[in-house]
Amino acid sequence: MKQKILVTGGSGYIGSHTVVELQKQGYEVLIADNLSNSTEEIPDRIRQITGVRPGFEKIDLSEREAVRDFFQRNQGIGAIIHFAALKAVHDSVAHPILYYRNNVGSTINLLENMTRLQIPYLVFSSSCTVYGQPDQLPVSETAPVKKYASPYGNTKRICEEIINDTCQVYMANAIHLRYFNPIGAHESALIGELPLGVPNNLMPFITQTAIGKREYLNVWGNNYHTPDGTAIRDYIHVVDLAKAHIIALERLMSRKNKTKTEVFNLGTGTGYSVMEVIRSFEKVSGLKLNYKIRDRRPGDVEQVWADTTLANRELGWKAEKGLDDMTLSAWRWEQGIEHGLKSKL
Ligand code: NAD
Ligand code: WQD
Repeated sequence: MKQKILVTGGSGYIGSHTVVELQKQGYEVLIADNLSNSTEEIPDRIRQITGVRPGFEKIDLSEREAVRDFFQRNQGIGAIIHFAALKAVHDSVAHPILYYRNNVGSTINLLENMTRLQIPYLVFSSSCTVYGQPDQLPVSETAPVKKYASPYGNTKRICEEIINDTCQVYMANAIHLRYFNPIGAHESALIGELPLGVPNNLMPFITQTAIGKREYLNVWGNNYHTPDGTAIRDYIHVVDLAKAHIIALERLMSRKNKTKTEVFNLGTGTGYSVMEVIRSFEKVSGLKLNYKIRDRRPGDVEQVWADTTLANRELGWKAEKGLDDMTLSAWRWEQGIEHGLKSKL
């Protein structure tokens, strides 16, 4: 068994897929999650996939004393992958304090204990949202970080900076992974994205419409300056994304990082429009999707996709799965939800 890795938010969407990949590589995993956006069944789901149930502790990482206690009880953590955060952009506009307290507070509490216990490695979930609408496409890691995309986006910017400042003075090293648009699910259809209530994101809205939970999909705008008029994003399969975390972790653990903190974009490098995602879904599912063209959604950027040169070169990582793999796995997951995670329905 390799080192013990603490995965915060490890029962969430991206975290659970990363735990699977960590276990496949022989790591011992301890999940810390308050289940605010996930269910307690996830560790068992992971066991069904990998044969090993990850350690799990329910804890709110934004509570300082609870986090200190947690680290007292759980010795021998070699590194941390920090997913735990609230992530709904529009919700963060309505509830900024909640987002700052939860996302920034949790990160500070983790760093406090990391530095106290000299845990040297951290992989942090950042987001392409920090770029806003970039001036140049594809967007590279050297593009300016825009000050205020949303309170949510701002928590990612602030957390990156707090981590950078901390790593400068303590024996700590970090990699910030800026995800583009993760979609899809594990091939087992045992884990996937579980949005609470009405989804904001495109992929779960498509699959929920197709399965009959929603009447139709709203396509937010078809008058953008893009080939078909709908907005363009860099969608990336969640399993490709998960694998990059293990590579980033091992880069830190083998001291291959070139600076104490590094940043990598995680996308495919290809942008797809909303209509292209719909067409892919229709192709793999054999269904016709009910959708209506609406006005643009406030706050949406027109187009963004990643320059992945740095991740390709430095991490030796490249996304392998294409758009059809993403939409098909998301559809299989949606179909499986009915038979599985009933507590969430
Ligand atoms: P998710 O909501 O599925 O997972 C986050 C997990 O963190 C949940 O299980 C939730 O219960 C837990 N959590 C939240 N606050 C917590 C707290 N205070 N203490 C303990 N646990 C807490 O989200 P996800 O899509 O898996 O995202 C994971 C990370 O990636 C987040 O940091 C998110 O901001 C970031 N990210 C996500 C996307 C995306 O589109 N999904 C894109 C870019 C970045
Ligand atoms: C994708 C495209 C919508 C829903 C968000 C966060 C970002 C990051 C990823 C965390 C857009 C269109 C969507 C719908 C639609 N998360 N759409 N109808 O907005 O690119 O990014 O998730 O860090 O920070 O902002 O993702 O999936 O919401 O939208 O037409 O019902 O689909 O307008 O063009 P987005 P999304």
